[in-house]
Order: sequence, then C-alpha cells, then structure tokens
Amino acid sequence: FMVDKGNRRHFMEKEIHEQPEVISHTLAHYVDFTASTSRPLDLPFDFARIDRLALSACGTAYLSGLVGKYWFERIARLPVDIDIASEFRYREMPISQNSAALFISQSGETADTLASLRYCRKAGVPIGAIVNVRESTIARESDVVLPTLAGPEIGVASTKAFTCQLSVLASLAVRAGVARGTISPDEEKALVRALSEAPRYANQVLKLEEQIEKVSRELSHYRHVLYLGRDTNFPLAMEGALKLKEISYIHAEGYAAGELKHGPIALIDENMPVIVIAPHDRIFEKTVSNMQEVAARGGKIILITDRKGAEQATVDTMETIVLPDVPEIITPIVYALPIQMLAYFTAVFMGTDVDQPRNLAKSVTVE
Ligand code: AGP
Repeated sequence: FMVDKGNRRHFMEKEIHEQPEVISHTLAHYVDFTASTSRPLDLPFDFARIDRLALSACGTAYLSGLVGKYWFERIARLPVDIDIASEFRYREMPISQNSAALFISQSGETADTLASLRYCRKAGVPIGAIVNVRESTIARESDVVLPTLAGPEIGVASTKAFTCQLSVLASLAVRAGVARGTISPDEEKALVRALSEAPRYANQVLKLEEQIEKVSRELSHYRHVLYLGRDTNFPLAMEGALKLKEISYIHAEGYAAGELKHGPIALIDENMPVIVIAPHDRIFEKTVSNMQEVAARGGKIILITDRKGAEQATVDTMETIVLPDVPEIITPIVYALPIQMLAYFTAVFMGTDVDQPRNLAKSVTVE
C-alpha cells in the first residue's frame, strides 16, 4: 500500500512527528495503562529461569539494544551480552543453555542479524525477535515475535522504529523484573506509570522545533561533531552521531563522557561542537566536569538537559536545549527526539537527500 508524506517535507520529518502516537501504540501492547502493570507474555523461555540474555542487531537497532542492556541489568538483574550482528555471527561466542536470545530489527531482513539468529538457533536457545515488519524473515525464524508498532518506516534514517524498540525493551525489562522478583509490585506500577508518560513528553519535545532548527543551522557550519552521554545516554550519544553522519554527511562520533580524557579530548577546539546529552541524574555532576574540560579548551557545547540540569550546569554553553523533567526510565525515549530533530534540520540546511542519503539502503540484506 501507499504511504505518503502528508503535509511534511520528508518522510523522516513525518516519522519523527508520529512518535507520540506510535510509542503509545507500542507500549499499550506490552503494558496495561489502566492497571499500571506489565502484560504477561507468551514467551518460549521463562525470565526467572534464564541467567543471561544475548542481544544482537545492527545500527540504530543495535543502539536500542545497548540501552536495553542497562535496563535488563538494572531492573531485572539479568546480565546481557550484546554485540553488533556482524561481529556476533563470527566471534564464536559460547551460548549458555540457560540463556535466551533477542534480535532487534526494523525491517526483519538485515543479513547479519539473521545470521546471528541462525547461530543461536544452532546453539539451541529460545529466540525472540523485536521487529517492525511482522512478515519478515527474522520474525518467521524466531520463536516469538515482539512487535514494534511503529507502522511503515520509509526514511532511511531510523527514528520512530528506534523509540518503539526502546518502548518494547523497557516493557520487557519491567516484565523480567517482575518475573525475577527484582522489583516489587509498587515498583512495577511506578515504572509502568513512568513509561505511560513517554508519549506526552515526546509531544512536548516536538514543540522545541524552532530552537532545534536554529541550533541546527549553526551546526551545519562545522565539519566534525562530538556527542557525549553517560549511562543510557551513552548509546544515545552514538545514535545522535549515527543519525547526523547518515543524513548530513558531517563527521560525528558518540562517546561515553567518561572516555573523553582517554583520547577524544585531543580533538577539542573551537571548531568542534560537542553535544552533551545529560538529564539531571545521579551522575550529572560527572558530566558537568566533562563539559568544563571541553569549555576550557574552547569547545562549543550544546547541552540537552532538563530544567534542573540547566540550573546546575555551571558551564558556558553555545546553546542549552531544556526538556521537561522526566522519570529516569523514559529519558532515552524522550531524549531521542531532539537528537533526531538536530540531525534532520542540519541535513535540511546542508541540502542533502534526507530520506534517501547517498550510499545507504533502508535494509541491508547482503553482508
Ligand atoms: C539507522 O538510521 C540506519 N539506517 C541503520 O543503522 C539501521 O538501523 C540498520 O541497518 C538496521 O536495520 P534493521 O533495523 O532493519 O535491521
């Protein structure tokens, strides 16, 4: 069937704006908003009985899995082995019989992800697939399909599929926490309530379009950009960099803020904008020190934070994008939006083919 851009310039823009709706749609599949509980799932394994989870995917889907690792380990105390699929399939990782494997893919056709799935199939462990296309090969070859309900994603740069993958992973981590007894019924309720607020916050963030467009105009004058984040915002830093390079062709790297002094700080000067993704969390002060190190070397900081973070960041920034204060579990979902919008507007200013960037395919079905 046909999907059109509606009144938007690009599919990517339309897909960014669809997020409040599709996140809500996806979450509703996994959690009960009224009771504030996670829904029981018919899984080929029992979260209470496995001792490891293997995750694999490519690109943006991999980065959602990386956020998922923090959630599964923190909420459900379930250790996660995660790798990009092109490494996973060849590195001959021993797979414990007490584990389950999850593969994440928008298209469900990515060659390396499929090969990783088949590797796990041979190892004889139960397999789940978080996919957007339910009729896909990866969906067909897995024991359980955990759908993202993002609807068709046309833009080559993945946006709404990413936040829906995060929504599924967060819900699964809560479910795993319930099954493993690592969270109480009250904690489950609080987490589900927090998740259910994600669509509303995503909507609020979309309203920052004007400011983000202005920052993007500035960004489009640079050749290199560094993204920094800690904890679940570290994968987000990598996602921001991936998005920017894909569609604007500006070189970008995403780093864990704590790694700055182990190398990338050598790059910092007035020609290197640094985008810092830092909600006010328990390690916020650490990130503030990193920003001071950047500022001291003339680096230009674009800080994406919340109200409290903006108050307490004792550093001069080129721009501070202030998001609403959101519950911790949904920060990667909510902060994904400004990251996508920055890449989008920068690409528009660069005049690139936003939906069909050079050299890239929507789904990489060959190795
Ligand atoms: C993201 O913007 C990319 N275009 C790309 O990294 C993508 O996420 C990757 O190729 C995986 O695709 P899949 O989700 O369809 O497996």
